[in-house]
Amino acid sequence: MTRQRLIILVAALAVAAIIGLALAPKVDRLVDNAGPNGEAGANVQSVGKPRVGGPFTLVDQTGKTVTDKDFQGKFMLIYFGFTFCPDVCPTELQAISAALEKLGDKVAKVQPIFVSVDPDRDTPQVLAKYVKQFDPRLIGLTGSAEQIAAVAKAYRVFYEKVKEQPADGSKAADDDYTVDHSSVAYLMGPNGEFLTFFPPGVTPDQMAQKIASYL
Ligand code: NI
Repeated sequence: MTRQRLIILVAALAVAAIIGLALAPKVDRLVDNAGPNGEAGANVQSVGKPRVGGPFTLVDQTGKTVTDKDFQGKFMLIYFGFTFCPDVCPTELQAISAALEKLGDKVAKVQPIFVSVDPDRDTPQVLAKYVKQFDPRLIGLTGSAEQIAAVAKAYRVFYEKVKEQPADGSKAADDDYTVDHSSVAYLMGPNGEFLTFFPPGVTPDQMAQKIASYL
C-alpha cells in the first residue's frame, strides 16, 4: 500500500465514522417517535386518508372574513375555480347545484363553497353575482393572493395564471389571462376532515348518492 492510498483509506474511515455519529441520533429520534404500542409517531403521516384540507381565512361574497371554523358542523362541498372560466367551472357548479337538489331535506347539512383561484379579478362583488347564478346556497370565497395560495396548497389544488397571447403577436395586457386549475370538488366532514372527492364529469346523480352516503 502506498502512503498516498493509506491516507485516502484513513480519510475514508474517518468520514464514515463522522457520518455514523451524525446518523445515530436521527435513528434514535425516529424510534422515540413511535407510540407506546409501537404505532407510528407524530412525524409519520397516517395511511389511508390523503391529507387534504385544513384551516383557512378567506373573504366571502358579502365582504365578510370567514374561516374554516365558520363551517364546523356542516359538510363542506368545496370547489376551486374562477368566474372567468369559460366552461369547466360553470359545468361543475351546475352539477353541484343539481346534486344538492337531489339530496332533499338533507341538503341543509351541506354547505357548497366556491373558492376563487383568481383573487385579482374575483372580488367579493364579482363573486356575489356569480354564485347566485348557480345556487342560492353557494358561498363564494376569495382573499389575498397569499390567502388563496395557502388554501389551494392545503387542498392540493393546482392553479396557474396563463397569459393569453394576442393573435397579432403584440404583448398581452396584464389582465388578459386565463387560469389553469385542477377541477375537483371535495366533500369535507363536519370537523373539516376529508371524506371524498369528485373528479370533473361526475354526474349529479353519482355525486348526490355519494354525498348522501355520508350524511
Ligand atoms: Ni374553471
